[in-house]
Amino acid sequence: MRIDRLLCELNIGSRSQVKELLKAGQVTVDGIIVKKADTQVDERKVYIQYRGKEYRYQPFVYFLMNKPAGVITATRDEKEKTVLDLFKEQYQQMHRGELTGIPVQDIFPVGRLDKDTVGLLLLTNDGGLAHDLLSPKKHVEKRYYVRTDKVLSERMLEQLEKGVDIGEKELTLPSKVEKESQNTCFITITEGKYHQVKRMFAAVGLQVTYLKRISMGGLTLDDELKEGQIRELTEEEVNELYA
Ligand code: URA
Repeated sequence: MRIDRLLCELNIGSRSQVKELLKAGQVTVDGIIVKKADTQVDERKVYIQYRGKEYRYQPFVYFLMNKPAGVITATRDEKEKTVLDLFKEQYQQMHRGELTGIPVQDIFPVGRLDKDTVGLLLLTNDGGLAHDLLSPKKHVEKRYYVRTDKVLSERMLEQLEKGVDIGEKELTLPSKVEKESQNTCFITITEGKYHQVKRMFAAVGLQVTYLKRISMGGLTLDDELKEGQIRELTEEEVNELYA
């Protein structure tokens, strides 16, 4: 990227202003004064200094993963394969073995799925968005597909919808349950407590034998993304998450 464009993207000034700043020798790139506006720099690597402040260009990236069972939701682990290990593998497969072009060291999963839970997982380096999506105050809806060990009775469904005691101070917030078969249903919750869905079903006497997250906020898993695969979010999807 040209240095003048990079300075604009960093909101240091307008195109004409940054040209002047450059000419005046006020900007350093990796410690060296750069005066020519058309100097090409690698925006992902350089450190810019202007008026004693350091700037680094870091575009936000957003990926959707269809998490398979058997990987843990963490960025690194001594023993277990993590979603970040899988992310790197998949990204490299899509980019001829390259892991460049993304700030991989800053990418993290938004929220947590258990090792045996599959489905939608958002990975990003956008801490602000992650914070909003996970904030208990925001009540972001998460929809799961659930299979249980025993038959789901109408009474159990009612209890789940009203709120159940999972050993926290308060009952769980109201949820929405749609029964699909004798032992499968969809549940939409607006909280994200540890093992929440499994604990909710345990509270009505059922064990969850399969759990898949289908959606989170405005983001929905599509059939095209197979388990273990990743894809970048579209602009509309990112906007939807911010809505
Ligand atoms: N609730 C659970 O119990 N487990 C998950 O992985 C997600 C929600």
